[in-house]
This record gives sequence, structure tokens and C-alpha cells, in this order.
Amino acid sequence: MSHTASAIHASSKAEFYASFNRQLAAVLHGERDWVCNMAQASALLMQLLPDLNWAGFYLLKAGELVLGPFQGKIACVRIKVGSGVCGTAAARRATVVVPDVHQFPGHIACDSASNSEIVVPLLQHGRLLGVLDLDSPKFNRFDADDATGLEETVRQLLAASDSPEA
Ligand code: SME
Repeated sequence: MSHTASAIHASSKAEFYASFNRQLAAVLHGERDWVCNMAQASALLMQLLPDLNWAGFYLLKAGELVLGPFQGKIACVRIKVGSGVCGTAAARRATVVVPDVHQFPGHIACDSASNSEIVVPLLQHGRLLGVLDLDSPKFNRFDADDATGLEETVRQLLAASDSPEA
């Protein structure tokens, strides 16, 4: 099955993410492989969300976040839970929105183009599997509406995939 992504013209972020998440559902339909679906999700995010320079996943392995499928420049491969924005979201098990990464204590600079960031934890039945990380060259790119939309993206991705057992 092949798919094409359609540019989204929306008057609000809620409308944008409703359309984005419908397209994601269509792209993931019929495939349950976890790595494959994360790869497609990162590509769709990079293709359709404006003003991103990096979109991808870090997966929890032996207590550390390890780089998973992503789009963008090569990145840091391992992040400790509690370190940087990704490790903070993992430790808190909550979405972290950073309007200016240069003001975030301990921010890990992988791509010097990044100025703002959002990290959404991947939680399945209370178990932390990793995080979704988006970076933008714009300051203040992400807000609570992005958090809501992307938390739905992550829920859909997890529901559509056979993720590894702990
Ligand atoms: N900036 C992140 C590291 C990952 S890269 O942005 C891809 C952080 O502080 O955790």
C-alpha cells in the first residue's frame, strides 16, 4: 500500500492536528511493526509540521534513552533519564514544552539550529517506552495545543503498533 501526504491548511492547531492524526492513521493502517511505524510517523511529522528541523524517537533501553527512528541531522545517541529535555520528559512521564532551549538548564544541543523543543513521553499501560522529540529553529514554536495534538499522535502510534514487551 502506498500513501502520499497532503499539505494541511487549518485555521487552528486543533484542526491541524485532527487532520494530521487522520493522515497518520491512514499511513499506519495495515502495519503493526513498531520500528516501521515510528519511522513513518517521524517522516510524516517532518513532512507536514511547519518549522521543524528534527523529529524522532528515543527508546528506553536498559534505563537509558537510545536514539530510534528520526528525520533530521545526526543526533546524540544516548540520553540519561533526567538529562536534557528528553530525559526530563522521561523522568516526569509528562510532556515538556521548551520555548527557548538556551534557557533550559541541561539542554542537550544536538543540532545547533534548534531554538525550541517539545518532548512527549511514550506511555503504554503506565510503562515508559521512550519519547517523541520535535525541534524547531523558531523560538516558541510549540504550545499546549501542540502538546494535546502530539499526545494524541503518540496514543495512535502506540495503539497501531506491536511495541516490544518489557
Ligand atoms: N535536545 C534534546 C536532545 C535530543 S536532540 O534535540 C535530537 C534534549 O535536550 O534532550
